Amino acid sequence: MYILGIETSCDDTAAAVMKAEGGFKKPRFLVLSNLSYSQVATHRKFGGVVPNLASRDHLKKIIPTIKAALSISEIDNKKIDLITVTKGPGLAPSLLVGINTARALAYAWQKPMIGVNHIEGHIYSNWLPATNNKRRTTSDIKFPAIILIVSGGHTELVFMKNYGKYKIIGRTRDDAAGETFDKTARLLGLPFPGGPRLAKIADTGNPLKFILPKPMIDSKDYDFSFSGLKTAVLYEFQKNKKIVLNNLPDFSATLQKSIVDVLVAKTMKAAKNYRPKAIMLAGGVAANKSLRKNLKEASGLLKTPFLVPEMTYTTDNAAMIAVAGYFNYLAKKPDYNSWKKIEMNANLNL
Ligand code: KG4
Ligand code: ZN
Repeated sequence: MYILGIETSCDDTAAAVMKAEGGFKKPRFLVLSNLSYSQVATHRKFGGVVPNLASRDHLKKIIPTIKAALSISEIDNKKIDLITVTKGPGLAPSLLVGINTARALAYAWQKPMIGVNHIEGHIYSNWLPATNNKRRTTSDIKFPAIILIVSGGHTELVFMKNYGKYKIIGRTRDDAAGETFDKTARLLGLPFPGGPRLAKIADTGNPLKFILPKPMIDSKDYDFSFSGLKTAVLYEFQKNKKIVLNNLPDFSATLQKSIVDVLVAKTMKAAKNYRPKAIMLAGGVAANKSLRKNLKEASGLLKTPFLVPEMTYTTDNAAMIAVAGYFNYLAKKPDYNSWKKIEMNANLNL
């Protein structure tokens, strides 16, 4: 079947067209188009995403983005079988633009519609084929799986028993990992979006030149806490501003190592106790090279297959929403009136 995916939960206006087949037994996906319009230029001067400006930009770009995605895919809208859209969690003014556009299209085209949980979308980015190998069968994905979800707003360890069966076994008690990257970057004067910039600088530094804490690394549960690390960064910066700024790569590398070490330690602790058949990484911070490398090595030591999305699919995109929508469609079989029931939920849980 052909699926249109739409994602507007934060500051990317994204649309994708995908061919999905094989059902739960042998799912296969072919990404025919995957477009994203970034609002970085709008938010840069504010140092962060401004929800009402995000909403206004989504409104401007959503129809051109969907039109372009359809045109690149060479799939006429009459051939689209399912419309999928992110319904939460995210910024309410942003989510509403995607949802209302999707509802209008589902009504006008008389197509079934699925509202997708954004976090579930990130999980399913692991099912997307590598872009240089357009079609990948996903029979190598086995359950149960342990999934580390790390984004700007979420840091969660999930035990996934099967399609649609999630148990959150650990989560951050305060800040998310991505937020810690972003806020430190802002403190250090790096331009928005700071997280990926800080990571790039970190890759050239020595992580042993400064000392920063690794909060909760030895705690008995699977929870995280990054606010103490953020405070330690602030104190170090206030105390030794000149030294920190003159050694930005080393300071960034130390911060990155603190975050990555905690994330890897907790994921491995979960893997040792739950004995999953796969370990997966998902969310925007999955783009972090050091995290990818260290989690892969640690999974290898446990002889557990490690899956991570292609770089293109780590940050917010509509292809992952289409995949999640496909599995939800198989389970729920929505009809042509389903658009009436889709509601936004900015605080939606997995
Ligand atoms: O999943 P995502 O695109 O949006 C949310 O749903 O939050 O994640 C964005 C987060 C931001 O905090 C960003 O700084 C972080 O992912 N991020 C990175 C890297 N690339 C993106 N953090 C560390 N290293 C990176 N290379
Ligand atoms: Zn996201």
